[in-house]
This record gives sequence, structure tokens and C-alpha cells, in this order.
Amino acid sequence: MTFKNILLDIKDGVATVTINRPKALNALNKETLLEMLDCFVELKDSSEVLAVIITGGGEKAFVAGADISFMQSLTAAEGKKFGELGHGVLRAIENLPQPVIAAINGFALGGGCELSLACDMRFASKNAKFGQPEVNLGVIPGFGGTQRLPRLIGKGLATEILFSGKMIDAEEACRIGLVNQVYESDKLLDECMVLAKMIASRGPAAVQLCKEVVNNGIEMDLNRACSYEADLFALCFATDEQTEGMAAFLEKRSPQFSK
Ligand code: CAA
Repeated sequence: MTFKNILLDIKDGVATVTINRPKALNALNKETLLEMLDCFVELKDSSEVLAVIITGGGEKAFVAGADISFMQSLTAAEGKKFGELGHGVLRAIENLPQPVIAAINGFALGGGCELSLACDMRFASKNAKFGQPEVNLGVIPGFGGTQRLPRLIGKGLATEILFSGKMIDAEEACRIGLVNQVYESDKLLDECMVLAKMIASRGPAAVQLCKEVVNNGIEMDLNRACSYEADLFALCFATDEQTEGMAAFLEKRSPQFSK
């Protein structure tokens, strides 16, 4: 599948999705969001893809937000539809069975920060900047920022970012748990690829069940979540992966998981 605003590269079990409108700092317009939706539908059903990296084209930005030129003239009804489209794309990322890594190579503002929040893990380059500047445009975050940011870093820190519209740098983002690690710009993608390939080398069913139980369980109370984990743990014992993984350990060899 080819797209106009995104690049999709699949290699060694890892799909790299690049939002590629560098002249507009990869801002998300309707066309780009629709392409992302198609792309994630394709990846969801791919048995070849075992991990996904999302990054931004060019040197300056991951994604500098939803496209302001596109949004400027929206009516309230159109604004609702656009917000729902953004939510649909981010839910499609969250619901991918494969783990998703955000490689944040520059500005991650507004919808860009929100895009990173829908990924399982975030890694940033030293020049990355984060923020939810919507209040400076007279709107609120529309792609889940008011909900995912407090869930990730806590209400106190999230409201400081959401209400002030200020930007924070990569080191600060790492300190508050918004990103896992900061790398030199020229190392970011390589480091994310090393992690993605490590994930891709593990038992794919186990990794995907693990993602499912983390994402669904985090919304449950602890009793229900642990019981849900017990069910999925049990399910693992019906897979070839468990047979192979445990046999390989006991035979002191590397497991050969069928992909
Ligand atoms: N939408 C549309 N175009 C954008 C954009 C955006 N979010 N961000 C940057 N661009 C465009 C600029 O208009 C500019 O285009 P032209 O060359 O045609 O003028 C080009 O990208 C380069 O940007 P700048 O010249 O502004 O670059 P800079 O280095 O001086 O500044 C920046 C970089 C600080 C990121 C600045 O571009 C900026 O503040 N961008 C807007 C960030 C923002 O407010 N994002 C939130 C959007 S609202 C949202 O996302 C709602 C939601 O939750 C869904």
C-alpha cells in the first residue's frame, strides 16, 4: 500500500511508519489521518509485523499537532467529526496487537504529543519538545490529551502542561515519565529499532497477550485485572510458544518461535 503523507517500511518484522509532511512539520490534516487509519488496519492483520515504530519525517518534528490551517474554518459539527477521526486513529494504534514505539525526533505538540501518548513506549531525541499548546489557540486538546496525559504522568504534572500550553524539553519529559529515554538525534531510530527487533524476536503470541492485558487491565480494578491476567496466562499454556519456550530453556538453547 502506498500513501501520500506517510511512509511505511517493513523490515525484519518491524514496521516503521513515518508521518511525512516535513514542510508543515508533519501536522495532521484529515488526509493524513485517513491514511494512518488505512495503514494501521493493514498492520493489524499482518502476521509479518511484530513491532511498530512511529516517527516523523524531516529533521525538526515528530508531529507539530493537528493541522491548524485545516482546523481554522471548521464548524462545531465539523470539529466534532475531526476530533472523532483523531480518536479513531489513536485507538487504532492502541488496539494494534503489536507493541508500538514512538520515536520522537523533534516537536511533539498538540495532536503530536497525543499521538505519542497512544503508543506503548516513547523515546525522544535530545532536540524533542513536548507540549499541549491548544489553549493558546482557543481550543482544548482534541485527540485524547486531557485523558491520556494525566493517566501517564499524573494529574498535577499533566494539568501544568495542559493549562499553561508551555513546551518542555526532552530531558524534562524523561524526568516526569513522559518518555522512557533520550538519545542523540542520529541514534534515536537505531536505538528504537534495536528494541523493536528484540520485541520481534520474542514469542509473538506472548508479547501480544501481554500488551492486551496491560492495556485492558489498567482500566479495571486490581481484582478483575489480576483475574483477567490469570485467564490470559492460562491461555499461553495452549500455545506452541509455551511448549517451545520452556523446552528451549530446559535444553539450554535459544527458542525458535514460529512467526
Ligand atoms: N498545523 C499546520 N501547520 C503547521 C503546524 C500545525 N500544527 N505547525 C507548524 N506548521 C507549519 C507552519 O505554519 C509553517 O508553514 P509555512 O512554512 O507555510 O509558514 C511550517 O510548518 C514551519 O513552521 P514554523 O515556521 O512555525 O517553524 P518554527 O520552527 O518557527 O516553529 C513550532 C515551530 C514552534 C512547532 C511552530 O510551528 C508551532 O508553534 N506550531 C504549532 C504547534 C501547535 O500549536 N500545535 C497544536 C495544534 S492544535 C491540535 O493539535 C489540536 C488537537 O489536539 C487535535
